[in-house]
Amino acid sequence: MRAVDAVIRERLYSDVVLVRQVSEYIINAGGKRLRPALVLLSAGALGYGKQGGQTHHHQLAAVVEFIHTATLLHDDVVDESELRRGRDTANAMFGNAAAVLVGDFLYSRAFQMMVSVGSMRVQEVLADATNVIAEGEVLQLLNCNNADVEVEDYLRVIRFKTAKLFEAAMRLGAIINHASAGVEDGMARYGMHLGTAFQLVDDILDYSGDESATGKNLGDDLAEGKPTLPLIHVMQHGSPAQSALVRHAIEEGGRADMDAVVQAIRETGALDVARAAAREEVRLAQAALAQLPSSQYKDVLITLSDFAVDRDH
Ligand code: IPE
Ligand code: IPE
Ligand code: MG
Ligand code: MG
Repeated sequence: MRAVDAVIRERLYSDVVLVRQVSEYIINAGGKRLRPALVLLSAGALGYGKQGGQTHHHQLAAVVEFIHTATLLHDDVVDESELRRGRDTANAMFGNAAAVLVGDFLYSRAFQMMVSVGSMRVQEVLADATNVIAEGEVLQLLNCNNADVEVEDYLRVIRFKTAKLFEAAMRLGAIINHASAGVEDGMARYGMHLGTAFQLVDDILDYSGDESATGKNLGDDLAEGKPTLPLIHVMQHGSPAQSALVRHAIEEGGRADMDAVVQAIRETGALDVARAAAREEVRLAQAALAQLPSSQYKDVLITLSDFAVDRDH
């Protein structure tokens, strides 16, 4: 991860001062660096890096973190979020225009970097993932303020906007090892299920998290009228009054109903239901690694998937 950080720092460079200011501002704020870790773990689990001079995993881990960071810059503009990684968001600090444009810089820098690996398959996976993430964010935009969104629609959004990049990160480790299609598929399935669990929990934390731990404001999803699983559960299984309350909150957006909505979520056990769904995704993620030979890397992949459900940040 230190080597990845060195690549990130080196490739963040631009002669344009504002590009450096905004990109360093968000990258230096930290973040869990989960997706680049997946590239290294997937690559390492299949033996990559044992021979001297193998550095494609570091390059691709940095690429994946750049793509992730670009999505965050854009996502915080779209969601009108004010806090990220415990700091004012880039849009709050530098304005929407700078946040969007530096997001574009990071996307395109990621594409410059991935070309240097010289693999058409790598480029295909990352181009597809980036495209699907964009579709996911647009699909979510369409679902905002719509109280009739079904669980399946919600799951589609989170598979697209979040799980796809986890899947791509895991796939890349297999590709640079020239692994068989079956092995690559197992890695990809682990990433897809882990990413789905990760976003399910992100959506739980939006109602129950501790802002000092998540580094994000609570209630951003409600403010945007996002029909996430906790809210869908209340509408489908709550009393008529609870259901009407949440329906109204989704349709209107804003934070006015936050306390009442949180109470309805508690009373209907909606967070436990969402956490159980995340746990099931993690079980599927772990099952996808069944054929992988034992190694420290595999152990960490298992531990990481448990963290995805139990995390508070
Ligand atoms: C935030 O991802 C966006 C989601 C998909 C929920 P992370 O929680 O991995 O963000 P950082 O990189 O650690 O800040
Ligand atoms: C983030 O979804 C997904 C992407 C960045 C593509 P959210 O909107 O739930 O993420 P946070 O909560 O702002 O980190
Ligand atoms: Mg957001
Ligand atoms: Mg969120």
